Amino acid sequence: MSFTLDSLRTPFASASLSETDPLNKDAGIVSPSTNDPDWWRSAVVYQIYIRSFADGDGDGTGDIAGVRSRLGYLRDLGVDAIWFTPWYASPLADGGYDVADYRAIHPSFGELAEAEALIREALELGIRTIIDVVPNHVSDQHPWFQAALAAGPGSPERERFWFRDGRGPDGDGIPTHWVSDFQGETWTRTTNPDGTPGQWYLHLFTPEQPDLNWNHPDVRREFEDVLRFWFDRGVAGVRIDSAALLVKDENLPEVPKNPQPGQHPTVDRDELHDIYRGWRTVADSYPGARSLVGEIWLPDIERFAKYLRPDELHMAFNFDFMARPWDAANLRASIDATLAAHAPVGAPSTWVLSNHDVTRPVTRYGREDSSFAFAAKRFGTPTDLELGTKRARAAALLTAALPGSLYIYQGDELGLPEAEDIPAGLIQDPMHFRSQGVDPGRDGCRVPLPWRGTAAGFGFGPEGAAQPWLPQPESWARLTVEEQESDQGSMLWLYREALRIRRRIPAMTEGDFAWVDAGDGVLSFSRGTGFLCVINLSSAPIELPEHDSILLSSTQLVSGRLPPDSCVWLRTQH
Ligand code: NOJ
Repeated sequence: MSFTLDSLRTPFASASLSETDPLNKDAGIVSPSTNDPDWWRSAVVYQIYIRSFADGDGDGTGDIAGVRSRLGYLRDLGVDAIWFTPWYASPLADGGYDVADYRAIHPSFGELAEAEALIREALELGIRTIIDVVPNHVSDQHPWFQAALAAGPGSPERERFWFRDGRGPDGDGIPTHWVSDFQGETWTRTTNPDGTPGQWYLHLFTPEQPDLNWNHPDVRREFEDVLRFWFDRGVAGVRIDSAALLVKDENLPEVPKNPQPGQHPTVDRDELHDIYRGWRTVADSYPGARSLVGEIWLPDIERFAKYLRPDELHMAFNFDFMARPWDAANLRASIDATLAAHAPVGAPSTWVLSNHDVTRPVTRYGREDSSFAFAAKRFGTPTDLELGTKRARAAALLTAALPGSLYIYQGDELGLPEAEDIPAGLIQDPMHFRSQGVDPGRDGCRVPLPWRGTAAGFGFGPEGAAQPWLPQPESWARLTVEEQESDQGSMLWLYREALRIRRRIPAMTEGDFAWVDAGDGVLSFSRGTGFLCVINLSSAPIELPEHDSILLSSTQLVSGRLPPDSCVWLRTQH
């Protein structure tokens, strides 16, 4: 359980491509592809959790000004697009996934004009902007919900949500026993203006996030308008929150024991596809491919792929791969299933190691059980961060070499571990509170980034700024951007090299994928001609296959052999 980064800080093999190398596509530093209609198929998308990226005004909370001041960092990292978690007006009952007004920016994050400027400035550097839309629910402070509460039972205002009388003569019986994704009940009873108990309303998440009724034409119209509002401002894509949950069975049945596909009352209902066909029509009516990416957690990968038919979403997050343990057979099975399911619909796979909801890879891969499941999160799980870091480095190269688009969550490029010592009084995540404190919640992966220096705050804000809204572990002094920029053995350096090479070798984004035979516990695959990726998940070092040169390695080779938990990119003849 020790964490000394020193063993990982040794410079490792990396060969620059020579100017005459036939694999070299000199793409320059910035993406030249802002007119490419297929940009999203192999894009590298960097997820910005805006509260925690960089604080421009010094109030301890990240903001648009902070992002604008760091666009050069994102360009140097080599990303094609940035995805912002919700930045709209919101009471932040669920970190912004409780939107009160889609056409206004939260005052802590800035103003609409700043968002517009950011979108423009990023594009000048070749970086597209993707926004987050949360169609399953709104904030309880949204004018529609406030109007519904005020208008009372039977009113048209209530039709936009799921208001129901309770069961039994007093109406105090909950309408269904559906369980929230955040644990606990999914219905909250209202109070009438005269103080008597009123109707109940549905919320699959917190009571501050009432579910919208997607059978209502106002709801459909409003969200298509929201898409237009942001497409008009130049955004290149939309990430769709809880994309498989919008439609509910109007009869409100209980959840059957083993629901058949499409029979669950709140998940993956067939009517959803029509909604997304409408969204695709809106996206396609704009010049320069505007893409839609769905947050879809579904165990049935064929049902999952249906959302990616050519007239629906462009992409969806590949959580199956993300949740798999560090194990060769397991990862290979996920890669195979992913590629097989995407091929018939012609959609690219996405590769995701983490996001703002899940345990950081450096921590997860350092645990005995390195798979991810929300239900399994607990305080005090033993973790070997040195091992986790080594594996996270290898996983970064593995995912960057697979066909499709790549999503990087802010801070993973710095190898940040999950912050597990946030004082109880500072925890904010409703997942923690709704589990009665059993689930540590998601704040541990949302801690503000360390940029520079050795004192608390680590340059998150300007000189003299308030302390960050969540405290950063002291050990992060060794993980600041400043520290890592000058260290060829750092995670940041590895990510920059990987993305630079990926951009310069067309085979890595365009070449056919093929497995190559390798020993037990080893995965090896080629992309097109001349590129081979080898990842050693066994417990012993392995000999490298025949190759011309080493492009990049996640760990220093030992006597020419690839150590366990390491990945190497090779330039080969065939
Ligand atoms: C998924 C988002 O990623 C998560 O952060 C949020 O809490 C839920 N959807 C509810 O909107």
